[in-house]
Amino acid sequence: MAIERTYIMLKPDCVERGLMGQVISRIENKNYRIVDAKMMTLEEPVLREHYAHIADKPFFPDLVRYMTSGPVLAMIVEGENAVKGMRILMGATKFEEATAGTIRGDFACSTSENIIHGSDSVENAEIEIRRFFGC
Ligand code: PPS
Repeated sequence: MAIERTYIMLKPDCVERGLMGQVISRIENKNYRIVDAKMMTLEEPVLREHYAHIADKPFFPDLVRYMTSGPVLAMIVEGENAVKGMRILMGATKFEEATAGTIRGDFACSTSENIIHGSDSVENAEIEIRRFFGC
């Protein structure tokens, strides 16, 4: 096991629904540390970069609209095996596949508005942290 850091983003629906506290509690209960955090309102260019791998998907315009619809909470989360561990805590991307007890399983009501983003690999975590925190 290794101490890793990962990029976590609480999406506009999470902020709007007042769920940030509950989600942060789950992250801290798992003994991960939030080493940096900031509220941000994202604009299209950074989202085009962040979601470049899915820019050709039919849902992409709706995803950009949603992600620019309100503030997000951007975080650097650190801990043992944090990249994979956070993905397990988050649950499946498709909300109907996210099991009860996970963040998406308990809070997400759709796949397009699914509460939280987490990096999918250590390499992408470093890229995403640099993108949103510049470090
Ligand atoms: S892929 O190719 O669809 O498996 O891509 P993935 O890397 O899992 O990222 C998908 C991101 O797009 C968001 N999103 C949707 N995914 C699937 N279907 C629909 N309709 C959809 N709408 C939005 C999904 O939440 C993923 O965002 P992140 O922020 O990475 O969780």
